[in-house]
Amino acid sequence: MAKVLVSDPIDQVGIEILSQVAQVDIKTGLPAEELIKIIPEYDALMLRSGTRVTQEIIEAGTQLKIIGRAGVGVDNIDVPAATRQGIIVVNSPEGNTIAAAEHTLAMMLSLSRYIPDANASVKAGKWDRKSYIGSEVYKKTLGVIGLGKIGSHVATVAKAMNMKILAYDPFISKERADRLGCTLVDLEFLFAEADYITLHIPKTPETTHLINAETLAKMKPNVRIINCARGGIIDEEALVEAIESGKIAGAALDVFEQEPLGESRLRELGSKVILTPHLGASTEEAQVNVAIDVAEQIRDVLLGLPARSA
Ligand code: NAD
Ligand code: MLT
Repeated sequence: MAKVLVSDPIDQVGIEILSQVAQVDIKTGLPAEELIKIIPEYDALMLRSGTRVTQEIIEAGTQLKIIGRAGVGVDNIDVPAATRQGIIVVNSPEGNTIAAAEHTLAMMLSLSRYIPDANASVKAGKWDRKSYIGSEVYKKTLGVIGLGKIGSHVATVAKAMNMKILAYDPFISKERADRLGCTLVDLEFLFAEADYITLHIPKTPETTHLINAETLAKMKPNVRIINCARGGIIDEEALVEAIESGKIAGAALDVFEQEPLGESRLRELGSKVILTPHLGASTEEAQVNVAIDVAEQIRDVLLGLPARSA
């Protein structure tokens, strides 16, 4: 019987699908050296963002036929190394779209109204109504960088809140942007005009540190930035300095250059910053969606059927 290793927490529904065709071993939080030792036994590997699948792990996986990422980003998998070895890499491109978009909108509103700090203050026994005078998103300008699946849903909901939407995405047509009620602009214009900027792009060499000291300097002093896409798109040192010096108003981050987030000055910026531990896809619905989506693809490949690659 084929063997599947599940190396990050995956919804039970996915385990049940895999169990139809394979022995499923769930071993989460393994250090890389342990993974390298056991991977030669397995035909398939299923993971989320917690496992980094390096070239070394892939080369040790001599029986591996497929690696399934229960989520969108395959940036934690060395895809070229897998391809060289004939291993298929699959993902779930749409299973957590709504979850990530709703997390983004929750971050934007929470940041505007200081919800996390106000909540902590009441729970600490205070009744402080003066420190948390927020701002409305109504009639403000939202700059969406990356008008793909998540960016489009964020734009649609923000539009319904009467925000003006500017979008930057060189791969999206004007017709599609028009249908979404967004104005396609260049980055310089978006940086200069937006009251909120939200990132929905992959992390690539072009997008790494897209938000840096130079680009932060082009933004309005009231701008708030939300990143529920990938750590490393923002230069965190430059962001901390821009917030500390009052060059920008704040940020809400779900993803970080290093995860888990280690020592960081981001933790010291009070109500101007909201930090969540990569929770964008963490809804019951999304976890069921991605588990089914990826487990079915692994099952099909183990049965000798064709798969859709990431
Ligand atoms: P998508 O592929 O549907 O959309 C990405 C968009 O970015 C595309 O429209 C593409 O044209 C655009 N793009 C690519 N390079 C660009 C560039 N240099 N400048 C501007 N636009 C560019 O992807 P998606 O499903 O919307 O996901 C967006 C991001 O969110 C990904 O990085 C994904 O990994 C991340 N994500 C995070 C979470 C989370 O838990 N926080 C959950 C799901 C997805
Ligand atoms: C993704 O790319 O799908 C996200 O990072 C969410 C996740 O894996 O939990």
